[in-house]
Amino acid sequence: MTWLKPVSIDANAQAAYSEFLRDLEARLADPRTDRNVLAREVLAQAMYGREYGQLLADAPLAALNLDARNVTFEAEYYMATDASRFAQVKPLLWLWKNLDLTPTGQNPVLGIPVRRLLAERIFKRVGRNFKCWQNVEFSVGYNMEVGDDVVVHRHVLLDDIGGIELQDGASVSDYVNIYSHTHSVLDGPDVTLRRTVIGRGARLTYHSTILAGSVVSDDAMLATHALLRGDIPPHGIAMGVPARVTRYKLRDPQEYSVDARTWPHEPGRKANPAFPDPTPSQTRKPTLEETGEG
Ligand SMILES: CC(C)(COP(=O)(O)OP(=O)(O)OC[C@H]1O[C@@H](n2cnc3c(N)ncnc32)[C@H](O)[C@@H]1OP(=O)(O)O)[C@@H](O)C(=O)NCCC(=O)NCCS
Repeated sequence: MTWLKPVSIDANAQAAYSEFLRDLEARLADPRTDRNVLAREVLAQAMYGREYGQLLADAPLAALNLDARNVTFEAEYYMATDASRFAQVKPLLWLWKNLDLTPTGQNPVLGIPVRRLLAERIFKRVGRNFKCWQNVEFSVGYNMEVGDDVVVHRHVLLDDIGGIELQDGASVSDYVNIYSHTHSVLDGPDVTLRRTVIGRGARLTYHSTILAGSVVSDDAMLATHALLRGDIPPHGIAMGVPARVTRYKLRDPQEYSVDARTWPHEPGRKANPAFPDPTPSQTRKPTLEETGEG
């Protein structure tokens, strides 16, 4: 069941958008397409209303920044990023990010289908009806695994460098942050990658944060503003900082795809060869003297 209703726009505008989408899809599917050229051309039209070559003559700085070969992403500075895989998706991520700054990206009837086309060529896997609203950020994009009918709302950060899986029907609300890497407390460059898994129909509600390696079971929920640093069992509702399961949905048990209680949690993968060993606990509780209670 859905609470959404159909919305339509002017037929001529819709026809123009559909033609744009068909053309973009065909160009993306053509193995001869240079993705860097495609991205800069689409952006020159969407942002400046002219061809890339003309823009280069008129406003070189603006034009040069539209070509992904002339820009860097934060992910490119990290050892864990696979340079050749990232090079494949980089122009498409650049197109996605910059279209979000334009009316094309801010307009859901056009922006959502464009992102669907791009996700099919950026993510490791994406299912049917992926609905991604505007201003969503990825780390590398190529480590995203997304099922059917997944929704990601506005201003979400998907740090997929260690892998993020969003199973069928999962919903990620506005301003959620999902991480898949962590740093040692004592040595910042000591990085561990942990895959983060969000089960079927699970809901991460607005402004919540999910730390690397967390497993959210099917039909579980993370309350608004919660900080998850572990798992949620099926139908559990985790709340607070750090999040604890303080409620369960009134549901009958069912077959689960992700059940954190039995999920084979993978050990963290070390991302920096200078720190090959598992990172031990590097903190202690304050003494009574330090808390002023001694
Ligand atoms: C978790 C949530 C669903 C409330 O569940 P609920 O069981 O119906 O909530 P209640 O209001 O009866 O509160 C139950 C308890 O949880 C606490 N609680 C509720 N929301 C909380 C939150 N976000 N953080 C911490 N505690 C919370 C209440 O204080 C109450 O505590 P008590 O038992 O000690 O009195 C809701 O607070 C929430 O986070 N909603 C998110 C909205 C949403 O669905 N967003 C998705 C949009 S796409």
